Amino acid sequence: MDHRLFFPATQRNKICIGDVLSEIHLKKGFVLEIGSGSGEHGVEFQKRFPDLIWQTSDPELKHRKSIISWIDHEKLNIKMPKPLEIDVTKSPWPIPFKLVDSLQLIISINMIHIAPWECTKSLFKESGKLLNYGKFIILYGPFKIKFKHISESNELFDKSLKIQNKAWGVRNLEDINQEAIINGFQLNQLIQMPANNLTLIYEKVS
Ligand SMILES: C[S@@+](CC[C@H](N)C(=O)[O-])C[C@H]1O[C@@H](n2cnc3c(N)ncnc32)[C@H](O)[C@@H]1O
Repeated sequence: MDHRLFFPATQRNKICIGDVLSEIHLKKGFVLEIGSGSGEHGVEFQKRFPDLIWQTSDPELKHRKSIISWIDHEKLNIKMPKPLEIDVTKSPWPIPFKLVDSLQLIISINMIHIAPWECTKSLFKESGKLLNYGKFIILYGPFKIKFKHISESNELFDKSLKIQNKAWGVRNLEDINQEAIINGFQLNQLIQMPANNLTLIYEKVS
């Protein structure tokens, strides 16, 4: 059965996010994606960065089914592992040892604003345990800077998120930085992306 989901935003942003990843020059090893959603990013990046092993994850069954269908559809079964069932708030994350040994990067795209703040805290806490010195965690999405939205459309989007769920909302950069510091990371790069999104690259420094 084909369970593939199609997320329009994902189709729009996958190339520019891939361009950012290509600048990091990752060595061979695993990338762990948190909140992979449909799996469209996963298969795109697995094809674009064949030296890496792209490990997807998502807490939702329908998303994991979509990811498996995308992997089948793109004939990446030999290369790409099946998605893991990771809810960032449930510690420890169920991760195979071989992944921990050669984990290069943790990435989460458009997740932390569609989840309670607790998820951002857990994301950094668990990533801090898994990533070695010099490795990265990357976040992509809309963010506030100094508690201000960087565009009117982001402000409207934030309001719409909060109507859907009071615990959701566009996160503030300085609050995220604080969680990063607590867990041994520092903001290494802030990259402006199309459609008023940002990519935040945090490096493990302790
Ligand atoms: C807006 S979707 C983004 C999906 C994908 N990253 C993309 O950009 O197309 C948000 C994703 O975060 C996942 N998510 C929500 N809460 C989560 C949690 N507590 N732990 C991990 N993932 C979570 C959802 O299941 C969903 O797949």
